[in-house]
Amino acid sequence: MIIDIVTIFPEFFDTFLSTSIIKRAITQQQVNIRLHQIRDYSHHKHHNIDDTPYGGGVGMLMTFPPFYDVIMKLKTEKSIVIYLSPQGKLFNQKMAKKLAQSDHLVLLCGHYEGVDARIEALIDMEVSIGDYVLTGGEIPAMIISDAVTRLLPDVIHEDSAEEDSLQNGWLKFPQYTKPETYKGHNVPELLLSGHHQKIADWRKEQQIRTTFNKRRDLIKGIKMTKEEQIILDKVKNESKNSKD
Ligand SMILES: C[S@@+](CC[C@H](N)C(=O)[O-])C[C@H]1O[C@@H](n2cnc3c(N)ncnc32)[C@H](O)[C@@H]1O
Repeated sequence: MIIDIVTIFPEFFDTFLSTSIIKRAITQQQVNIRLHQIRDYSHHKHHNIDDTPYGGGVGMLMTFPPFYDVIMKLKTEKSIVIYLSPQGKLFNQKMAKKLAQSDHLVLLCGHYEGVDARIEALIDMEVSIGDYVLTGGEIPAMIISDAVTRLLPDVIHEDSAEEDSLQNGWLKFPQYTKPETYKGHNVPELLLSGHHQKIADWRKEQQIRTTFNKRRDLIKGIKMTKEEQIILDKVKNESKNSKD
């Protein structure tokens, strides 16, 4: 997969691209993340890429021509061109999974007051990483690149991605590592038993409990098995009884 990131601050990405799993995925050519300095597409002799908004108002707006030119240069039939924006569709694991199927993403980072609205005619999607306003699209571009890259084949252990929170709707079960006990805080006995089926059953139940306790809002979107529905009913009953 190729991810093209268009930004006025390519240096933002230095550590991101040279650390940990993203670095390895780049080295092993599982992803090619390319940075494009939007100033290189400026029509001004001083490489300006912002101007005051028509109709008045505070702040500066990024101008349309550099974005037009860079999109025209990068876009192919296989591309998904995304403008990072607080007005966009909310990014989530489902969207990450979908984007991970594509061959080419173009991520456009705005700054200042954002970008001239004519950009909307050229993009495929407007994506927000959350209902808050950031100073620029660079952190959202990193978030999307990270979430998508770790889903590409062989970047991380496939089973690990499959078991992750949200991947199949539920949150992940709680996990523990050594030591078994520390200052009275113990690892659940069952996990030390070596009984694989019992551990798998416990983990399934814990996934449902964790989702019910931490993110009940996710449950309505999950297509659950009969077994999961039975466990959920049990958890709901317990919660109701503990309140009565
Ligand atoms: C300060 S914001 C502009 C906000 C714009 N004036 C508005 O009210 O919608 C500057 C840039 O940061 C990026 N940005 C800010 N918040 C974001 C979010 N929640 N998700 C994705 N991108 C965001 C966008 O690229 C945006 O163009």
